[in-house]
Formats: sequence, C-alpha cells, structure tokens
Amino acid sequence: MKVLLIGGGGREHALAVKIAQSPRLTELYIAPGNPGTAECGRNVPLNISDFEAIGDFVANNGIEMLVVGPEEPLVKGIADYFTDKPVSVIGPSKKGAALEGSKDFAKDFMTRHGIPTARYQSFDKNQLQQGYGFLEQLSPPFVLKADGLAAGKGVIIAGDLSEAKSTLKEMLDGKFGAASSKVVIEEFLQGIEVSVFVLTDGKSYKLLPEAKDYKRIGENDKGLNTGGMGAVSPVPFADRIFMDRVEKKIVEPTIRGLQADGISYTGFIFFGLMNCAGEPYLIEYNVRMGDPETEAVLPRMNADILDLFDGAAKGNLDVKQCSIYPKTAVTVVIVSGGYPEAYEKGAVIEGLSSIGENRVYHAGTARNGDKTVSAGGRVLAVTALADNLSAALDSVYDSVEKIHFEKCYYRRDIGKDLQKMI
Ligand code: AMP
Ligand code: GLY
Repeated sequence: MKVLLIGGGGREHALAVKIAQSPRLTELYIAPGNPGTAECGRNVPLNISDFEAIGDFVANNGIEMLVVGPEEPLVKGIADYFTDKPVSVIGPSKKGAALEGSKDFAKDFMTRHGIPTARYQSFDKNQLQQGYGFLEQLSPPFVLKADGLAAGKGVIIAGDLSEAKSTLKEMLDGKFGAASSKVVIEEFLQGIEVSVFVLTDGKSYKLLPEAKDYKRIGENDKGLNTGGMGAVSPVPFADRIFMDRVEKKIVEPTIRGLQADGISYTGFIFFGLMNCAGEPYLIEYNVRMGDPETEAVLPRMNADILDLFDGAAKGNLDVKQCSIYPKTAVTVVIVSGGYPEAYEKGAVIEGLSSIGENRVYHAGTARNGDKTVSAGGRVLAVTALADNLSAALDSVYDSVEKIHFEKCYYRRDIGKDLQKMI
C-alpha cells in the first residue's frame, strides 16, 4: 500500500515508525515530515492545508491511503475533499471533525446523546449579560472555552467571579479572534484526567491503550499550558471497572450518536476525560491522536496499523487484530528554553545516538548540514518501554539526560504522581 501521512511533529514520527513496520506498506511519504520521519519514508514539502497540492501529489504518485495526523486539515474538510477520489482517508469528515472544531457542537452532541459531561451554556457577543447571569449560578473556579480551534490555548480557568466576567468579555471581544466569537462556560470538574483513544470505522471500534498527559510547563503541574510535556501509558487508576464505564457511558454512546446523526467517521477519536471519584466525565473530543500521547500509546500496540487503518476505511475493523503489550511506556518531551513563550531555534542537538533501545521521536528538529538542530518549542519526545512504571522512568530519564542542546528543558516529574498510586 502506498501511504501519505500528513503532519510533521512527534505524533507523526511515531505514526511513521508504526506504519513503516507494516508488511502491507510499499511506500511511505510524509508531508511535510521532519528529520525523524525521513528515516521511515520520504518527506515531501507540502502545506498541510493546501488540499489541491496534496490532491495532485496523491494522484501523481498513486497514493492509496492518506493518514491525517493533526486536526487543522480535518476541521477544514480534507476528508471531504477526497470523498470522490480513489484514496482512503484516515480522519473524519468536516462534520465529524466539528467534535473538535467547535466546543459548542461537541457539548450539544454529548448532551443529546446522554454522555456525562460538565453542565454548560454557550454565549455569543450579543449575550454578554446572559453569560454573566450563568456565571453567577456557578461556583468557582469557572471554566471558559473559546468555541473554535485556538492552538490549545482557548481554555481559561478563572478563580473568581469578577475575573470570570472580565475574561468572558475579553473572549467575546476577540481575544482568540473568530475562535472566541462564541464561548462555552461550564462547571468545573474535580478529578484526575486521563485520555482514552479509539480507532473507528463509524460502527465498531478498537480501544487503544489509555494515557495520561502532562500539560503544564512546570513540575507539579505549575505554570503555563503547553501542547504536552510527557505521557504515561497505562494509567494505574484507569482499571477494568473504570474502563468498562468509559466504554459503556462514553465511547459506545459516541459511536451510536455519530450513526444517529448520520455522521460517517473513519479515524481516531481521542476522549479527554476526567475521573471524578471513579465516574468518567467527558471534557472534550479530539478527532486525532494526542501528542505526546501517541509516542507512548503506539509502542504498546501489538498490531499492524495499516491493516487496522484498512479495516477502518473499508468498514470491517471488527475482524482486525489488535492487542496491547502489558508494558509501561513513559514519554518525556524535551523543549526549547522559554517554550511555550518565545524561544530560540537552531541549537545543535547532541547525544541522539547514545540512547540504546529507547525511542527518540523528532517533534521540532531540522537538519543543518550533518547536524540535527532544534526548530520548534517541543523538540524531541523520548519514550522508554519497560515491565513497570519505575523501570520505564529510570530508563527514559537515563536517555533524556544523555541528550543535550543549549537551553533545553524537560520536566523531571513525569509519572511520579502515578508511582504513588501503584
Ligand atoms: P480542553 O482544551 O478542553 O482539553 O481543556 C484544557 C484543560 O482545561 C483540560 O485538559 C483540563 O485540564 C481543563 N478543563 C477543561 N474543562 C474543564 C472542566 N470542566 N473542569 C475542570 N477542568 C477542565
Ligand atoms: N497532548 C494533548 C493533545 O494532543 O491535545
């Protein structure tokens, strides 16, 4: 099978490694890819939102499957663009992608299909007073979300009512541009977060390993939100009882809801959940895999990922094989100092060849002559797979310490909170 993978981060490097292991692969192209994906296939310099250029490449190179990593092209309708073309797309239609592209749509979907989620209401520019009224009914802290995509920055948690009111006004006045022309206000849920992933053909699904993400830049979950500083899979509190509840109360009603609403869906669904005293609540949907969760989840999958993708595309995912290795994966992300605010690029990365069996996924790197240099905020994601959490932590940090570039930074406490739960 000839495959084109769209994207260029750590998630796509992890997908590229898994796709390259498939016996069904004949050629893998990655657009735009990165120096890591270049070791799995051929990088092609295409803009991920330029559907015509992607379409030409697909037609000219006989691509049979298009795997879409990031949400942006999905929300813009890349799957719809290829509907009548002879290529399978792994990623939902624009309608399905609205589960991530519009928080208001997602909350309405959850409510209509009886999926447990925080109580909410949505407001636009003309409803500021009603928004204040709803905030007055809630107790602090207050959760305000830009309706549209805001590069992961569109959620603000306000500690008191006056801050919540001024935040609502700022958001509706365009703090996040068009993305916050509508704002979802919701009840704050107290609990521990966990991310659950499925691959679906729109009728059946395969449950992938769950993961915990570490979103804040600082240790002990302090400081600004990032794209993700680390991930651990499995998650000790996501035991059989909890996961059964997740499937019955969240995953199955979602798949049934998509069918009832006439939304055909091929691809991943990422459920951002809160475990509230053992009960799962859905915080958000993403219509793609997480980053860096993918770098922890895929190494645990004992499956031919292209065969699964083919099943998802053809509607026979239920007959495909997929099991999970009973191992623990820990991923630590190494970032450029300053991230998620301003940071420098171009620092030479050393130590990449000295990490033994562990995996280094490139997220924001570039080649400069024969050197690999930093080229983004999140630069590398290092994953260790071991028999238990302690061994995986020892192993991953042993590798991370061997990698260096000027002003590099990583959190030293990934997985430490989970160690206390075992
Ligand atoms: P989201 O972009 O929807 O994932 O939100 C970003 C982060 O905000 C989540 O990962 C949670 O940590 C937090 N969050 C979002 N909604 C809620 C909520 N209703 N209660 C508590 N925390 C929330
Ligand atoms: N790591 C969170 C995300 O991919 O959305």
